[in-house]
Amino acid sequence: MRNYAMGRFLLVLRKMAATTIRLSSYLCCLLLIVQVHSVNRDNFKTCEQSGFCKRHRSLQPGQSPYKVLMDSLKISSSQISVQLLNTKTNVRLVLDLYGLQGNTARLKINELEPLKPRYEIPMGDVLVGEPKQQDLKVLDKGSESLTLGLEDNKIVLTFSPFRVDFVAGEEPVVSINAQGLLKFEHFRKKPGWVDKLTSVFSWFIPPFREAPAEDAAPGEPAEGEEKKEEENKEEEKKPEQEEEPMLWEETFKSFHDPKPNGPSSVGIDVSFPGFENVYGIPEHADSMALKTTKDTDPYRLFNLDVFEYELYNPMALYGSVPVMWAHNEKSTVGIYWNNAAETWIDISSTTADKNFFSKIADLVKGNSEMAQMDTHWFSESGVIDIFIMLGPRPKDVFKQYAALTGSTELPPLFAISYHQCRWNYNDQDDVKNVDANMDMYDIPYDVIWLDIEHTDGKRYFTWDAHKFPSSKDMLNGVAVKGRKMVTIVDPHLKRDDNYKVYADAKSRDMMVKGGGGEEYEGWCWPGSSSWPDFTNPEVRNWWASKFQYSEYDGSTPDLYIWNDMNEPSVFNGPEITFHKDVQHYGGVENRDVHNLYGFYVQKATAEGILMRSNNEQRPFVLTRAFFAGSQRFGAVWTGDNMGEWSHLKVSNPMLLTLNLAGITFSGADVGGFFRNPDSELQTRWYQTGAFQPFFRAHAHIDTKRREPYLLPEENMKIVREAIRKRYSYLPFWYTLFYHGYRSGETVMSPLWVTYPEDKSTFQMDDEYLLGSSLLVKPITEQGAVGTNVYFPGSNEVWYDIETYQSYAGSQSTYINAPLEKIPVFQRGGSIVPRKMRVRRSSSLMVSDPFTLVICLDKQGEALGDLYADDYKSYAYRRGEYIHRVFSFKNNILQSSNADPNGRGASREWVEKLVIVGYPKAATSVHITVDGNSQSLHHSYDSSSRVLTVRKPDVNITKDFSITIQ
Ligand code: GLC
Repeated sequence: MRNYAMGRFLLVLRKMAATTIRLSSYLCCLLLIVQVHSVNRDNFKTCEQSGFCKRHRSLQPGQSPYKVLMDSLKISSSQISVQLLNTKTNVRLVLDLYGLQGNTARLKINELEPLKPRYEIPMGDVLVGEPKQQDLKVLDKGSESLTLGLEDNKIVLTFSPFRVDFVAGEEPVVSINAQGLLKFEHFRKKPGWVDKLTSVFSWFIPPFREAPAEDAAPGEPAEGEEKKEEENKEEEKKPEQEEEPMLWEETFKSFHDPKPNGPSSVGIDVSFPGFENVYGIPEHADSMALKTTKDTDPYRLFNLDVFEYELYNPMALYGSVPVMWAHNEKSTVGIYWNNAAETWIDISSTTADKNFFSKIADLVKGNSEMAQMDTHWFSESGVIDIFIMLGPRPKDVFKQYAALTGSTELPPLFAISYHQCRWNYNDQDDVKNVDANMDMYDIPYDVIWLDIEHTDGKRYFTWDAHKFPSSKDMLNGVAVKGRKMVTIVDPHLKRDDNYKVYADAKSRDMMVKGGGGEEYEGWCWPGSSSWPDFTNPEVRNWWASKFQYSEYDGSTPDLYIWNDMNEPSVFNGPEITFHKDVQHYGGVENRDVHNLYGFYVQKATAEGILMRSNNEQRPFVLTRAFFAGSQRFGAVWTGDNMGEWSHLKVSNPMLLTLNLAGITFSGADVGGFFRNPDSELQTRWYQTGAFQPFFRAHAHIDTKRREPYLLPEENMKIVREAIRKRYSYLPFWYTLFYHGYRSGETVMSPLWVTYPEDKSTFQMDDEYLLGSSLLVKPITEQGAVGTNVYFPGSNEVWYDIETYQSYAGSQSTYINAPLEKIPVFQRGGSIVPRKMRVRRSSSLMVSDPFTLVICLDKQGEALGDLYADDYKSYAYRRGEYIHRVFSFKNNILQSSNADPNGRGASREWVEKLVIVGYPKAATSVHITVDGNSQSLHHSYDSSSRVLTVRKPDVNITKDFSITIQ
């Protein structure tokens, strides 16, 4: 089996060989032969191989050593602060509980007196700002518990053993430390030989104490603790750290992790009583509804470059968003675990302890069991910092989460159009040819991408002078058709003193350091490389300045950026990434901040693109690694997938999960990165991608060329149609992204987001909704000529977007889907804006007219909206946008202003109405604008029950009504 690092090395070697020696073709064949298509699991740790994972996972429920020291309680209007005592080690922690605005609470646990401060993510980086606080009311203070009121919720703090329960209305929804798995590895001094001897003779001498309790002399029990102290004496004689494995160092393969700070992990359990399904915590190649981890490792969050990743397992991938939702018919709640270190999450399903809950909530009576999901979170370092979002509806939790970490910035229109990528477009002529062919075959596209081979020897911000001698001409050549280009800029810098960017970073001492304080060195695409320390704000500013036109030679305003390998990928590093003792800014170890490195790379890049336009144009940056909050800086893709049916299929749950975790602007490589997908798979993949948020075809350098026009003619036509369909729906997509930006809503949503009470949708991840108007069921099975589609909503009617055939809600129907068919349906009751004059690129369509597709519900009504602006700049922030609302009722379509702050002008107008589900032909249709009425052309198709109204020709900014008689 070829291992990943070897594979990457060989690839680098091969590239070198290709340009220098003829033998390259032999080498190439050899490499293809040894290429094995599955992940090399040996490169990645299992829980068993990770000290802290093993330590937390071995904890047994019901043995919590923690109790609340009520004497230490401090209450202010929106915060309580109280100490927690570990009755085994006598170490004290401090618990802070905050009420936050918008049905949210925050629970933090830190050491009371750490030997040095523990890492916390700087405010403003992931959290957009200090969360706004909300009053907590003390409802009851007894000898066993304290009950607080937060809006309509109760928070019950139980003292011994310590636990916190959140009760929404009368339902318990979240319990923290109910199983007693809180474990907090306090900083400690490494035991020297004296301590070791002490440990050996510990049966004969008084117990060792870690951090003496406040006000207590060293060696003395804390006030009121005498009895417990006695009880625990036996255990105290064997201090915690002596019993547990891998506390002070560990080894994985040939890699040694010296852990200079010793053990530092934190963990706690979070249960969701009343719930059977939990979602979120990307990135994993898994189903949307998370699985129990009884028979597997826990889900792992640790940003890693996993070569040829396997499906349906909890292994870590490129990005991490530690947010989880629990959903049932009555409510949606969730938590955000604000910690950037390696994190594992165990999940199990059980039944709720009704006995306990009957004491704190007026719970459902009777004997029936209540389901519960138990989760157990542990991170290698940092503090426990949990945000509890109490919904109660799906859209509420998305808003609550967006209030914390931000929403997806409104992308420029080109970014949500079709992207043509491959590793690599070889030279300027290649780019020119692809561009010309797309036009020749009438296939729209907006962006053509250049991968690593465009550079001078993988030195980012440079061009290969032979292949790209005049990049500006090339860029201008595509820009005349309104198109853009993207170049890749990875964070590893080739260690070459003649490479300007490296030399500059080196002279400013901006690289991350190895454990010994030296500039860290590892291998990536350019060979020996170093990595700027993006966690340092100064380094980010420096990096951002590299995108100035004066710095990035050969770039123009039509060039945007792709950040890859930013987990970071280090071919010869442990688990293909940084050593954990890599030093960052402020003496922080990579151990503390690992999952944020890629986030900062994308943040700095987006700032650079923003700066080069004097903050006027919206940036576009694609990233592979990500964290909570990455949605603010651009798009994410699911990395190196395979051109296989299974990978097409898994793209839907993976993107649904990313959407649920706030990363709404996300996609998967269309066609699959590795391998050569056949034409059927490519066709189905384009159809799927056309209805996913980020739509980019990409392929590995060793694959056959597969631009869509190279497909057999029949497939080419179908793919062209799929891409054109994407363009025709751009106004709808743009409006969806606008809503997401304003409210944190998902763009691609599980059905339960719109139909929260429909249990049959809770695990459904092979079909989804765009907004609440389009239902998509992509075909992801080889040879399929049809599929069962579930139509949600007992009162709904759904219309096929091509034939307008109607389907009743709350049932499944087999839909024929021969190769040319994408099963997509519009909800009766919705109005979807489209542009039917598809052109070569989206920017050539910006002044084109709209067609409003009005699908009527059972009452003959429909509602929809449209957001528009200049599609590229921040002028909308100054009110230069329009937001229209369309309502169809009593045979009248009204268009009115949805937002008085939107004062934008527009040249776009309405050229057609397609009214679907209309019962009969009209006798007359009139439009009224500014008090003037005029009759309009119309026609009726009785077989499809579609009334078409032509040429209202009214400017989109105008209020108007169209009356049908
Ligand atoms: C990584 C990326 C892939 C890219 C390649 C070369 O494997 O995931 O998309 O083409 O590197 O840059």
